[in-house]
Amino acid sequence: MALALVRTRAEFRDACEAARRSGQRVGLVPTMGALHAGHMSLVAATRARGAQWIALTIFVNPLQFAPTDDLDEYPRTLEADLDACRAVGVDCVFAPEEGGMYPPGFCSDVRVRGVTDPLEGEHREGHFDGVTTVVSKLFNLAGPCVAAFGRKDYQQWRTLARMVTDLDMPIEVVGAPIVREADGLALSSRNTYLSEDARERALGLVTGLRSAWDAFEAGERSGPSLLSLARAPIVERFDSVDYVGLVSPENLSSFGEVLPDRALLAVAAHIGSTRLIDNVVLGEDPRPG
Ligand code: PAJ
Repeated sequence: MALALVRTRAEFRDACEAARRSGQRVGLVPTMGALHAGHMSLVAATRARGAQWIALTIFVNPLQFAPTDDLDEYPRTLEADLDACRAVGVDCVFAPEEGGMYPPGFCSDVRVRGVTDPLEGEHREGHFDGVTTVVSKLFNLAGPCVAAFGRKDYQQWRTLARMVTDLDMPIEVVGAPIVREADGLALSSRNTYLSEDARERALGLVTGLRSAWDAFEAGERSGPSLLSLARAPIVERFDSVDYVGLVSPENLSSFGEVLPDRALLAVAAHIGSTRLIDNVVLGEDPRPG
């Protein structure tokens, strides 16, 4: 089947409904485009959960960007994205026009509390409200489906899974592992902003995660010690650090000084105006990179 490109919410709803009516399980992969292998792994993740007809959405959602964020610079590469979708057998791409998601008069939002508070929540005010609002709309348009999100944005995945549970949405949420470059850098659409030198310095993130992972595997359970191991290479190579945090992988609540046998180590830092994030679940994930 040829790839269908749909531009309006009504067409997208109809396409998903038609697929379900023909007996196919719908897979949904929400993205902001500038697709890379991390995004494409989500297509495979929905297939692994039985999706037979897969829709990938491309929308650079203004609601989740702060005025100082990179909304205008965010890469927009629709033709290449469509080729990438064809190559992995995506059935439908929904790429609404700017403004197509929020017609005049739009004034609702969906808010998830608690799990959105720490880490990204402390540094990107309103960001998760923008994410949960747009993804609610996508879920409502798509209808019952299996939707995949990357654990690269770990807190986003947990927030959306919480939202689906709390609001009884008929969606199965899958969290897919982080896809990395050969040297360990997590794939990100924002990596295209990095100069060669900055690309090298960006490895500070995964170096920090590995250093804490190694210590954790060797039995270290002191939160402050693991945080300082993770932080050192990041502070050395990045211009500023938003956070290096250890929290519960389930609800992102904080721990005392001594960690249990599983903990999410999450980091965010800036090189120039580029903000990068990464994470590993200690006691669960393989050594990053
Ligand atoms: P975007 O940054 O385009 O990411 C789309 C999806 O791809 C997210 O689920 C993200 O976690 C996943 N992803 C990105 N890089 C990845 C990597 N290296 N490995 C695995 N998965 C990766 O996240 C968003 O868009 C938006 O917030 C969105 C959910 C689309 C709502 O606007």
